[in-house]
Amino acid sequence: MAQSFVSLTAKQVMQDAPVIPVIVLHDVAHAVPLARALMAGGIRMLEITLRTSVALECMRVIRAEVPEAIVGAGTVCHARDVDACLEAGARFAVSPGYTTQLGAACRDRVLPLLPGVATASEIMQAQHDGYTELKFFPAIQAGGVAMLKALYGPFSHIQFCPTGGITAQNAGEFLALPNVACVGGSWLVPAEALVQADYARIETLARQTAKLGSQNRVSHPS
Ligand code: 3PG
Repeated sequence: MAQSFVSLTAKQVMQDAPVIPVIVLHDVAHAVPLARALMAGGIRMLEITLRTSVALECMRVIRAEVPEAIVGAGTVCHARDVDACLEAGARFAVSPGYTTQLGAACRDRVLPLLPGVATASEIMQAQHDGYTELKFFPAIQAGGVAMLKALYGPFSHIQFCPTGGITAQNAGEFLALPNVACVGGSWLVPAEALVQADYARIETLARQTAKLGSQNRVSHPS
């Protein structure tokens, strides 16, 4: 049975499914069929990146037409972006890095944030500000599985969402780690599948990834 969330936490965002799709949309017309395909494949936490001019509009139409999907904003780099994300219906935010200004803006507006970190110092800053569910970015380039194992020593209470270079082939190695709750990746939403309106392919990719296991995942949408 799918869990419904009145007030979402970062932990719930990370534990809902093994993968958070990192989505880049250039055409609003792709948003709703994409969300439906991912939902049909068992993925409902959708990270729409603020990398295109239509990103906020895509969030709005998904919220309106696929209300069972949980829309988040990705590539949130500035505190000034937070209000626009909330207005567009974002229920969580993901950032490639961390600033105290962004952390404070999200906390003030009660928007769950998965801030990006790649070093021990960045983790220390984020945890000082109260963030313990973090994106590890760029995961492969920043040391991959070996780095996460090393970070587990001093930061065993931190849960990571490794993102950047994760694929269907290597996701399992990450998800097997005790400090990884989920992974993030763009591979579920290939740009050419959107252009070709091949939503069946996206649904299949989502269905395959939804089956990946994480020892830290406690719930899963039905
Ligand atoms: C991100 O935007 O968070 C990452 O760049 C996604 O990386 P990927 O395209 O390697 O999955």
